[in-house]
Amino acid sequence: MRFFNVAGPCNPEDHYMLPATARLPDVQMLIDQKAYFVLHGARQSGKTTAMIELARQLTATGRYAAALVSMEVGAAFNDNPGAAELAILEDWRAALVWQLPPALQPPPWPEAEAGGRLGAALAAWCMTSPRPVVLFVDEIDALQDAALISALRQLRAGFQRRPDAFPWALALIGLRDVRDYKVASGDSARLHTASPFNIKTESLTLRPFTAAEVAELYEQHTADTGQRFTPDALRLAFDLTQGQPWLVNALARQAVQVVVPDPAQPVDAAAESPR
Ligand SMILES: Nc1ncnc2c1ncn2[C@@H]1O[C@H](COP(=O)(O)OP(=O)(O)OP(=O)(O)O)[C@@H](O)[C@H]1O
Ligand SMILES: [Mg+2]
Repeated sequence: MRFFNVAGPCNPEDHYMLPATARLPDVQMLIDQKAYFVLHGARQSGKTTAMIELARQLTATGRYAAALVSMEVGAAFNDNPGAAELAILEDWRAALVWQLPPALQPPPWPEAEAGGRLGAALAAWCMTSPRPVVLFVDEIDALQDAALISALRQLRAGFQRRPDAFPWALALIGLRDVRDYKVASGDSARLHTASPFNIKTESLTLRPFTAAEVAELYEQHTADTGQRFTPDALRLAFDLTQGQPWLVNALARQAVQVVVPDPAQPVDAAAESPR
């Protein structure tokens, strides 16, 4: 039984969903060209869903070892980069075990000094990986101040050693474009450079769903349950949500679970109207 997801990233077993990488048309070329790039966009726009699926596809080609990791747990240690690194690396380990087959998983993280642990871990992994590593680093905005500067500087320092001793390609995923990070890292005089991540080749963002995509998503519910959405309801749903991915799901979930719970009844525009 699939349903409309309103809590966290989508997966195809549980959720009605649109092809997750359809809104990332240029990204394959960036990866093939060994780019370090940024994917930024509003909360709940589908960034994590899209990049997890992209990593899965890249690994499935047999060409790359690709995975998504997060900086989120570092947020509790923004004034202590060394502690942030330890928490982050522990979380990365769990994420990588979950996403990659054993042969592609990193070796034990090496001992390293505070301020160099992320770089050392990536170097150890990439030097032993049988395939080039492609890494997507989610929730970069969780880091601020010293922890953010330290992480970005380690990525920049390793960039020139790729692909043998650092990820072949890398994306930072967050709410802001990277040029805005210097604001978040506090005292910009400490950076001595316009952007601490000035190796970035490109910034990508995710467009909203089109009206046709909203209809396609809602038709998955019709195919599974027989419950139809009238053309007026589909039009109104797009008007109300403007294709914002979470809103598109939340409105449909409300319609089919609360307003019209009987799948024999179609969802019409009256049911979609906000009360
Ligand atoms: N491919 C998709 N098809 C249908 N709905 C989607 C898709 N991707 C995302 N959504 C909707 O968007 C919501 C948020 O997805 P996701 O967690 O991937 O976004 P995010 O941009 O990473 O959010 P955050 O910034 O809060 O981490 C999902 O719960 C779902 O409602
Ligand atoms: Mg996310």
